[in-house]
Amino acid sequence: MNQVEIENALAGLPLGEIRYFDTIGSTNDYAMYWTQYGPSNLSIVIADEQTAGRGRAGRRWLTPRGAALAVSVILQPDQVEVGALSLVNGLGALAVSDALACLGLSPAIKWPNDVLMEGGKVAGVLPESHWLGDRLLGVVLGIGVNVGRAALPPAGSVNFPAGCVEEALGQPVVRVTLLREILSALVFWVGQLGTPIFLETWENRLAFRGERVQVIPPIGEPVEGQIAGLTSAGNLRLAIGKEEKVFSAGEIHLRAVFEDRPVFSS
Ligand code: BTN
Repeated sequence: MNQVEIENALAGLPLGEIRYFDTIGSTNDYAMYWTQYGPSNLSIVIADEQTAGRGRAGRRWLTPRGAALAVSVILQPDQVEVGALSLVNGLGALAVSDALACLGLSPAIKWPNDVLMEGGKVAGVLPESHWLGDRLLGVVLGIGVNVGRAALPPAGSVNFPAGCVEEALGQPVVRVTLLREILSALVFWVGQLGTPIFLETWENRLAFRGERVQVIPPIGEPVEGQIAGLTSAGNLRLAIGKEEKVFSAGEIHLRAVFEDRPVFSS
């Protein structure tokens, strides 16, 4: 990948400025810094390799050279109402899952934003907002995709099985083509943020929908129930007997329960 190849691949999409790096600490860190200087809406930061890639809950995210996609998209504050920030999780997951569907795959979304293929996590999303006092400078939507096997984290280093797009597809993937599909889907969905079609599509793609799952809050006991769907803010509705409990992203870990045996967590 290089700047010219990326600009050619993304030609015609209504994006802001594109900044490519052969290697960087974290594209999200760079994009967060950039929001101070008023980049145009949908400016993007892309790197071939990240040396300090970040995942959710302070975890590391591997982006070895040549094997992954690491991109951060900057959304201007006027594009995302403060109340809609949690929907940005869905925005990233919908964009990646649309792009994988274009390749002929059938991805699922482990709420809020992990994209799964054949039970393995192939992509993760890290939305972050940059505030100056009570002023929102911008929202950064970081997307990481395991394209080839070299992007897979070492076995035993993650608590959810990982997968990669090339293995799911059974053939090589041109990263800039996948990048274009992701960003063109993102351009569509950002205009639909929080609309009924946005929420319905996110909900319809949820992994473990209607199945028993365990949600693990940061404090207190795990709660078991069935995934009932999403609220209008993109929070998770869990049916527990005849009652319903709502969980917001960032607050919980989710794991599927099969035959009373929890097998996955993240
Ligand atoms: C997760 O834990 O599932 C979220 C992973 C998000 C990784 C992406 S890669 C591009 C961007 N830069 C980062 O440092 N993290 C995100």
